Amino acid sequence: MKTLHLDINAPEFVADPYPRLAELRESTPVFFDPVWNKLFFTRYHDIAALLRDKRLGRSILHRLSRDELGWPPPNPLTKDFDQFQSHHMLDNEPPKHTRLKSLVMKAFTPARVEGLRGKIESIVNRMLDQAEDRGKMDLLQDYAEPLPVAVIAELLGVPEEDQHQLRPWSSSIVKLYELGYSDQQAVQANQAVVEFSDYIKALADERRKNPQDDLITALVQVEEQGEMLTEDELVANCILLLNAGHEATVNGTTAGFLSLSRNPDQMNLAKQAAREGNQDFFKAAVEEMLRYDTPLPMFERWVLEDFEYQGIPLKQGQEVALLYASGNRDPRKFENANSLDLTRKDNQHLTFGLGIHYCIGAPLARLEMQTSFATLLRRFPDVRLATDKVEYAGGFVIRGHKAMPVEF
Ligand code: HEM
Repeated sequence: MKTLHLDINAPEFVADPYPRLAELRESTPVFFDPVWNKLFFTRYHDIAALLRDKRLGRSILHRLSRDELGWPPPNPLTKDFDQFQSHHMLDNEPPKHTRLKSLVMKAFTPARVEGLRGKIESIVNRMLDQAEDRGKMDLLQDYAEPLPVAVIAELLGVPEEDQHQLRPWSSSIVKLYELGYSDQQAVQANQAVVEFSDYIKALADERRKNPQDDLITALVQVEEQGEMLTEDELVANCILLLNAGHEATVNGTTAGFLSLSRNPDQMNLAKQAAREGNQDFFKAAVEEMLRYDTPLPMFERWVLEDFEYQGIPLKQGQEVALLYASGNRDPRKFENANSLDLTRKDNQHLTFGLGIHYCIGAPLARLEMQTSFATLLRRFPDVRLATDKVEYAGGFVIRGHKAMPVEF
């Protein structure tokens, strides 16, 4: 096995990881990175197989203690953050993961998502009304960001006047998902978890007294019916939904617009479909944007027991990094993998994951992105990027932009 270091946070790599990922995919499909202390996988079929393998998990502390793993004591700076992680579905494995996910799914039904369609359309149109006379906007701040924040807040039941707090809390929290973060980021994220948890606890108390037609009420009722959802779990999963419910959708929207801007023939196709009100086009187009430039390009797993994968020994306690963004450009899986083709069929991309942790919010994210692209391009058929320098906001794991000025 080759050993090499992939500096995923180097600004050039964050700005365009695809050429380097293509090289690795061909020459070094698996490598050990001694700096991150992880095995990296770059090919679609390996990533997909490992995501479905129960011998890997998003957490390992249900199997082995920190002592057994030879880990240092927990970082006191992230005490509350670690607690939060231990209670939400994304960082748990069966049986706890199964219980948490099925309880949340009960409250987060397809009917509830479909019921948001009208709301999504009206938010999108309101934002475009506000920008119309200016002839320009920041696609990130004025369009991509407010929609998923307002929608997930509405779904959970966070009142409009409190919604401005969600994005700053969430941005602080997700910094800890990057590989390598500073003490200052750790302190800020921990503080955000404390404030966010207090806020959700108070809201849940309110809903216990005055039930509403929202997800927090539904979860409070699940908890009260004795279906084993503790208050810590309720709070942690609401925070998870609020974070996960917008970060990637925001980044997916700006990345999608950038991909269209850099592929004018595809932009023209999309504008034509918008003019014609072709909804089906946008279903396929959004899948392709999410494949072509993957907003969450990498996730990790722990090896839960010793085994061999394709002759590669995987040792219990070893960490594995799966480069979804690389798998999504693998020519073994996708024809013309490096081309943006908005009409692509059978687009089985890895962007929402695979296996037991498959994204709960995929139907909602799809609905939001389909509506926002179709409406933007229909109402502003001249919309175009107003800069040649698009800057990225931070690291690779949550790969988002700083701003995206557009004119129309
Ligand atoms: C374009 C937008 C989105 C992308 C790209 C995305 C991607 C993902 C991925 C890749 C995973 C699995 C992580 C892994 O494999 O380790 C995941 C899980 C999850 N996502 Fe999303 N997501 C998006 C939108 C949403 C939305 C809108 C919500 C909430 C309403 C949401 C809630 C969740 C939750 C709760 C999980 C954990 C599921 C589990 O552990 O079983 N996501 N998402």
